[in-house]
Amino acid sequence: MRIDIISIFPDFFEGPFSHSILKRAQEKKLVEIHIHDLRPYSTNKQKSVDDYQYGGGSGMVMNIQPIDDCISKLKEEREYDEIIYLTPDSPTLNQNTCNNLSISKNLIMLCGHYKGIDQRIRDQFITMEVSIGDYVLTGGELASAVLTDSIVRLIPGAISDETSALSDSFQDELLSHPIYTRPSDYKGWKVPEVLLSGNPILIEKWREEKAIEKTKNTRPDLLQ
Ligand code: ADE
Repeated sequence: MRIDIISIFPDFFEGPFSHSILKRAQEKKLVEIHIHDLRPYSTNKQKSVDDYQYGGGSGMVMNIQPIDDCISKLKEEREYDEIIYLTPDSPTLNQNTCNNLSISKNLIMLCGHYKGIDQRIRDQFITMEVSIGDYVLTGGELASAVLTDSIVRLIPGAISDETSALSDSFQDELLSHPIYTRPSDYKGWKVPEVLLSGNPILIEKWREEKAIEKTKNTRPDLLQ
């Protein structure tokens, strides 16, 4: 998979993609992540990428030209499965969307700033809009890092134990059951007996019951 991220803060991504599973997935060539600094694409002298809003109102709007040039250049080089704009005024990301995106070959993610991007970019180029939740971030960078992480970990080989991604919360509309590791008794806080029983049928039954209980209490909407 190849992911092209367009941003006015390219340095932001030095951190999120250089650790753990995302780092290893790149080393194993499962994913190539390319960060594109939008500002050099601007053709005006000041290299500005935003301007006032037509019709008035607070907040600057990201200009069409640099985004058009950057996306058009990328599209000339290869075909993209989706051109994604990260913005709070769009459908909320869920596991199903991550699963679908994880089988893509090429993705573009466009990070917005200020008030957002000129609507004509959305109309002309964007094939998918994603919000990572009902709250507003300072820009799309964190959201695109979240989206990238949630997709890349699903690429076969990214997580050493592949079944682990399949047994995540949300994969079967249920939240995950409680999990424990050694020691079995810490200060008298004990691991549930059943997990020490060695009986896989009983363990599976317990896990399912706990997952349903947790989902009912925490996210009853998932059970509907
Ligand atoms: N940009 C700002 N807030 C966002 C959000 N919640 N999701 C996606 N992109 C955003």
